[in-house]
Amino acid sequence: EKGGYDHFMIKEIFEQPQTIFDSLRGRLDAKKGTLTMGGIREYADMLKNANRIIIVACGTSWHAGLVAEYMIEELCRIPVEVEYASEFRYRNPVVGPGDVIIAVSQSGETADTLVAIESAKEKGAIILGICNVVGSSIARASHAGAYTHAGPEIGVASTKAFTAQLAVLCLVGLMVAKEKGAITPQRFQHLLDELENVPEKVATTLELNEQVKNIAAKYKDARDFLYLGRGYNFPVALEGALKLKEISYIHAEGYPAAEMKHGPIALVDENLPVVFVATKDSYYEKVVSNIQEIKARKGKVIAVITEGDTIIPGMADDIIVVPEADELVAPMISVIPLQLLAYHIGVLKGLDVDKPRNLAKSVTVE
Ligand code: F6R
Repeated sequence: EKGGYDHFMIKEIFEQPQTIFDSLRGRLDAKKGTLTMGGIREYADMLKNANRIIIVACGTSWHAGLVAEYMIEELCRIPVEVEYASEFRYRNPVVGPGDVIIAVSQSGETADTLVAIESAKEKGAIILGICNVVGSSIARASHAGAYTHAGPEIGVASTKAFTAQLAVLCLVGLMVAKEKGAITPQRFQHLLDELENVPEKVATTLELNEQVKNIAAKYKDARDFLYLGRGYNFPVALEGALKLKEISYIHAEGYPAAEMKHGPIALVDENLPVVFVATKDSYYEKVVSNIQEIKARKGKVIAVITEGDTIIPGMADDIIVVPEADELVAPMISVIPLQLLAYHIGVLKGLDVDKPRNLAKSVTVE
């Protein structure tokens, strides 16, 4: 059942070229330049005219929501908020007709998310569900939605569901941008092409597995880790830190790289590994300065960079080189080495990576 792999987690990490492909299949046709989202087609007008879009989710799905916030605001020029379902539910939020809620959930059974959408629905908001499990409670409680087609995720730590969520949320953003006329035909076509190429680039990135394993061996005894990124890669940093915490029980924090200087930089010394998600995008130059700030304080820098980068290799202690991609789709690629890093550190520490202590696959209590 693990298909020759030692654990479900690594099997699921390696399934991602296929699961991303499956999540795009039947929806995206880059050659024809078309995009169809059957499940939410009827709500396209509502989405494009929404006062705002509120994404509610927990954990890894919340990180996918953060990437979607950047994508949808940029592509559609609609204000987007991303809320922890548990906070959204209990703080009596201002929400009503004209608001569209997107609930993101792998299991579709997360109690916090379910209760949050039920109360928003009572207040008149439209609910779209992005779930992986067909017929799950959140899918049923939504007015409409689009499934991720990641297949069953057995490993407790979410991996392939995350990249499938990013793929589907990107499709939603593109669909709304097109309907709204907020995107040029050239940019639309470019992003369709970029999306279509993601599965292959993820496959190329997975070839770095052995290299990431060596990096894992080098840093597995660290007490703390910091993960930094900016823009589209900031949520990727959060997700990398969450994966490491869950799987290896090493304390890790994700942070926007520029926010470092407002406090956390005090933690940096020669014992602290700092993982930078530093692929070539509009924030690149700024991230390079942030790497300099860490090196000046003797932190160990592990950087995920784009092929062809000639600057960061001269600064970082370890580099992981991934294929170039548009910044909107880059998180699906840059998160892969971070999933692998957490996996290998957990395995090297002799931990049960498929069932980390204290965690359940779906959290059905509030
Ligand atoms: C992280 C993880 C959890 C879930 C969270 C939401 O690896 O598995 O943080 O992402 O409990 O679960 P879903 O997506 O099922 O609502």
